[in-house]
Amino acid sequence: MIVTVPGDKSITQRAVIFAALAEGKSRLRGLLPGADPASTAGAVRALGAAIPELPSDGREIVVQGLGLGGLRAPSQPLDLGNSGTGTRLLMGVLAGQPFKATMVGDASLSSRPMGRVTRPLSEMGARFRSLEVADRLPLEIEGGSLHAYGYDLPVASAQVKSALLLAGVAGRVPVTLSEPGRSRDHTERMLSALGARVDGAADGALWRVRLENPPERLWPLDLSVPGDLSSAAFLIVLALLGGAKGELTVRGIGLNPTRTGVLPVLGRMGARLKIEPEADQGGEPVGAITAGPTALRAAAIDENDVVGAIDEIPILAAAAARASGTTRITGAGELRVKETDRIKALVQNLRAVGVAVEELTDGLEVEGSDRPLRGEVDSFDDHRIAMAFGVLGALPGNAIQVRGPECVTVSFPGFWDLLGKIGRG
Ligand code: S3P
Repeated sequence: MIVTVPGDKSITQRAVIFAALAEGKSRLRGLLPGADPASTAGAVRALGAAIPELPSDGREIVVQGLGLGGLRAPSQPLDLGNSGTGTRLLMGVLAGQPFKATMVGDASLSSRPMGRVTRPLSEMGARFRSLEVADRLPLEIEGGSLHAYGYDLPVASAQVKSALLLAGVAGRVPVTLSEPGRSRDHTERMLSALGARVDGAADGALWRVRLENPPERLWPLDLSVPGDLSSAAFLIVLALLGGAKGELTVRGIGLNPTRTGVLPVLGRMGARLKIEPEADQGGEPVGAITAGPTALRAAAIDENDVVGAIDEIPILAAAAARASGTTRITGAGELRVKETDRIKALVQNLRAVGVAVEELTDGLEVEGSDRPLRGEVDSFDDHRIAMAFGVLGALPGNAIQVRGPECVTVSFPGFWDLLGKIGRG
């Protein structure tokens, strides 16, 4: 069976923001019609950009950009819903604007740490005021004149890196930074394509990024968003675990090397994935991945794997529950500050369906088995927790009920229908 998945969540949200900042008409196709991009688009609209509703079928939209100086003060708080990416990237943009804005979000987003972005942006010259709890939304931000800035990120993070680069672009000041690992580079690729050249290079174990000459204007985009590998990963694991009707091919997936860390991990677990390159889309490599039923074995997953597979740890933990042996996942402390504390959520849910699991401060240990897995689990309003247990529940012999399944719309609307269609049921 051949399937596709919705557009990449990271690229979609960047596309909406960059199209608003560009000069001229951007043409965007294949945008993810999910709840996170809808929140980001809503916030960008409130800043004055006419962003059409994001189509549910990926058809093209045209966005008339406002230019780097064209955003205006919002008359209401910007509601970012569940979107950490939208929040942090827009904080960077707002840091360079001569007005005040308030950002709010849902309960999950309001519990996530924002200090990792507000601290460096404050050092660049923006001002933040927490309205309830320190370094959490709701937050008021007052942008203004920024100065050239250099920063060493304590933790590799594409959201923090992107916020600082966007502040550099919006405020027209140079930014240099380093991260202790190489996080996803969609911002660097897209900004470079729009005329804001961003360079990246390894320096020992560090990854250095530089925006030396922020441009006067950004060119508009003409972009087809690739399918989201983070969504495809759920289907690939379903097929590996024998939950699809035979082999499954997912086409049109973004294969940016800073995102594909899940593939070598699955390889170490015994998966033989067929990866066929397709034509690049929007400056990103794209391809098809084919997977079929495979006896998986446990693997050690550590901090060297985590940055390139940060969003795939939930589905890897689910795969580990069906592998032979005990999988130890470490170096994944960042999971504690995602849409929910994903380490706790995985441990609690795996236990609830009969998997032996150990919680570690920075990860978990999962003992694989072929016992039927049964019980009720919670999504914790986290799309990737819901989908990981959706996949486990779709395997023959298992019966898992996911409470709060609707949160999958954040990144993968149509997930449950597709699972019903391709699953062996
Ligand atoms: C994202 C970066 C990652 C990732 C998130 C999307 C992005 O977060 O987990 O789903 O689009 O930049 P961090 O930057 O916090 O690691």
